[in-house]
Amino acid sequence: MAVFWDSPGTLTESRTTPHEAREFEDLREALEGSPKRIPSKYFYDDRGSEIFSRIMETPEYYPTRAETEILVQRSDRLLVVGGLSGPVHVVELGAGDGRKTAHFLRAVQRYSAHLRYTPVDISAGALRELSQRIKKEFADIEVEPRVLDFESKLESLPLSRSRTNMVLLLGSSIGNWLPEEQSRFLRRLRAVLSSHDFLLIGFDLKKEASILIAAYNDALGWTREFNLNLLERLNRDVGANFVIDQFRHHASYNPATGAMESWLIAQRALTVSLRRLNFSIHLKAFEGIHVETSWKYLPSEIEQLAHDHGFRCIAHRYDRLHRFRVDLWS
Ligand code: TRP
Repeated sequence: MAVFWDSPGTLTESRTTPHEAREFEDLREALEGSPKRIPSKYFYDDRGSEIFSRIMETPEYYPTRAETEILVQRSDRLLVVGGLSGPVHVVELGAGDGRKTAHFLRAVQRYSAHLRYTPVDISAGALRELSQRIKKEFADIEVEPRVLDFESKLESLPLSRSRTNMVLLLGSSIGNWLPEEQSRFLRRLRAVLSSHDFLLIGFDLKKEASILIAAYNDALGWTREFNLNLLERLNRDVGANFVIDQFRHHASYNPATGAMESWLIAQRALTVSLRRLNFSIHLKAFEGIHVETSWKYLPSEIEQLAHDHGFRCIAHRYDRLHRFRVDLWS
């Protein structure tokens, strides 16, 4: 996304730039692979971020409520165990609408008088709203939003030298990467953090498949809309000609990998051209495009992940129904 800061506190969106053309470069390889894929970061344009806020409000999508419960009721405990003191810089990766983060920030403020908050997201629209809301709710927080694809630009995170950095990766976002991508991310993050910094990270837990499947296929149809928006977005941003109503959204749980999978399935044979990227794809009847993987975790798998990547699991908390877990790592 071509967005830059022109003055503190103001987000500006520019027209297409060479950077933006490069932004969509990974699409070709993904759409020409087998199975065809669309990288899930493309979900979160401004409209996608808006629809995702609706998903989080559906009765079926429990992860947000479970994680919010933990942040409301357990943030203090996590911070005490972590021994947090002095000035803190909270850097939230993939902040989205950041609603649940406010609870955590309030807790941090009880330990740190000089709180700086840097929400990072690829949606400028989501960041704009979030920053305004946080500034209104908190008189004494420095808010410095960054429009950034943190997946590729992890090394340019604006970490602080004089403060304790507390990096937040909530919403089980880590589970949206493949295991090798999760590893690469944790390795790179560990390399940019110093020994007194922290990572606060949320994990959706393994559970009965019907609960998972419902969460990714809500009755009101917001998840369906979210998935189809991906195609609308490509039509808009790279001149693709997907005919939206020829695709069906399909969510399933794969017990072999322990992950939820979201697919867009073509209802008949189709040729789609992505005009501005100079290539076309052919879909057979009932061929699927894989659009999202959402890994679910056992507690032991979370601990292994921390251990394997040089993090120390300092504390963790579950929601009342043990659906979700938030960890503090150093
Ligand atoms: N990070 C969210 C998750 O994996 C994203 C998400 C929720 C999602 N519902 C979705 C992604 C449906 C694709 C399709 O839980």
